[in-house]
Amino acid sequence: MRIVVTGGAGFIGANFVHTLLNDHPEVDVNVLDSFTYAANESSLTDITPEQAKRLTITRGDVADMEIVDEVVRDADAVVHFAAESHNDNSITGPAPFIQTNLIGTFTLLEAVRKYGTRFHHVSTDEVYGDLELDDPAKFTPTTPYNPSSPYSASKAGSDMLVRAWMRTYGIPATISNCSNNYGPYQHIEKFIPRMITNRLVGIRPRLYGEGANVRDWIHVLDHNEAVWEILQRGTIGDTYLIGADGEASNKEVVHMLNEIMGHPQDDYDHVADRAGHDLRYAIDATKLHEELGWYPSFTSFREGLEETVRWYTEHEDWWKGEKERVEAKYAQKGH
Ligand code: NAD
Ligand code: TYD
Repeated sequence: MRIVVTGGAGFIGANFVHTLLNDHPEVDVNVLDSFTYAANESSLTDITPEQAKRLTITRGDVADMEIVDEVVRDADAVVHFAAESHNDNSITGPAPFIQTNLIGTFTLLEAVRKYGTRFHHVSTDEVYGDLELDDPAKFTPTTPYNPSSPYSASKAGSDMLVRAWMRTYGIPATISNCSNNYGPYQHIEKFIPRMITNRLVGIRPRLYGEGANVRDWIHVLDHNEAVWEILQRGTIGDTYLIGADGEASNKEVVHMLNEIMGHPQDDYDHVADRAGHDLRYAIDATKLHEELGWYPSFTSFREGLEETVRWYTEHEDWWKGEKERVEAKYAQKGH
């Protein structure tokens, strides 16, 4: 089986590639990635020579019709992770989000329509907007879309394109909307790796606003296992929500990280809040449990965080080069 993994040099995509190479010897992988600032060459280098024979890396833009046609023509399936993925960047510069997330997804859809290729679209729970802190409800596959940021609006638009191509052209596709991921290879502009690497270079963690905002954390390997199950056994045309009941406020996450890293819980700074900051996300993954029997294997967020702290501590070479640039960018925003 030949699988194209778009965005395979980014956080979730690179983890997915490692899972395919480690656990699915019948799969050959073609990574289609334009290597933006969010990609890291060395995320894909820690593989055996045998695995290297099953991995092709195609440097290209998902919005480039010619290159997309070429890679999709030879594929049995496309798993589409490539995106501009950071809310803060979408607030200061939305243009690449529209280009990659909308035009890029459109370009892939046209190619899979032409070749009849199985397509899985990776999306986010942020398309549903946010919930009140005390709302007993969680997001379900029927929750109306209500995105808040240029990032989530562009992802919502990409989901709508996939739905329209499924209904109108009958492309064999599925969609998943997942909650916030954490784990190895995540870019240090994102919350958890930023806080960990701040500690490692001697900067206090930075909480936006009061830190009351809640995210529903899931380990990246659990997300990817669910994507694999959906790709294998999901109902064509369906949307699946992926989450691991991992709700925690940002303040609680920083408290835990401080404890794990040997600092007082309240050793952090409050900084300017994010514009339009979503209050709370929460996923109801009942459909995945009932239809596909998928459950997360990382059941302790605390242990997952400990493992993640270890990974960043041991892989300074992977992130050190980016730290100064990322922090300079945040400093400009008052973050
Ligand atoms: P990331 O930013 O770490 O990686 C994105 C990758 O896509 C990078 O390798 C980048 O080079 C590549 N890319 C960007 N624009 C491209 C283009 N035009 N052509 C080809 N490649 C391009 O992102 P991530 O956190 O790994 O997220 C992957 C997917 O999962 C995204 O679609 C995101 O919306 C979704 N998602 C992420 C989370 C999360 O918590 N990170 C949660 C739910 C869903
Ligand atoms: P982030 O990792 O950017 O993911 P998302 O915006 O997709 O949820 O941020 C997670 C939460 O952490 C979000 O509520 C914003 C907050 N945050 C901070 O408090 N400080 C930071 O330095 C960053 C990057 C995020």
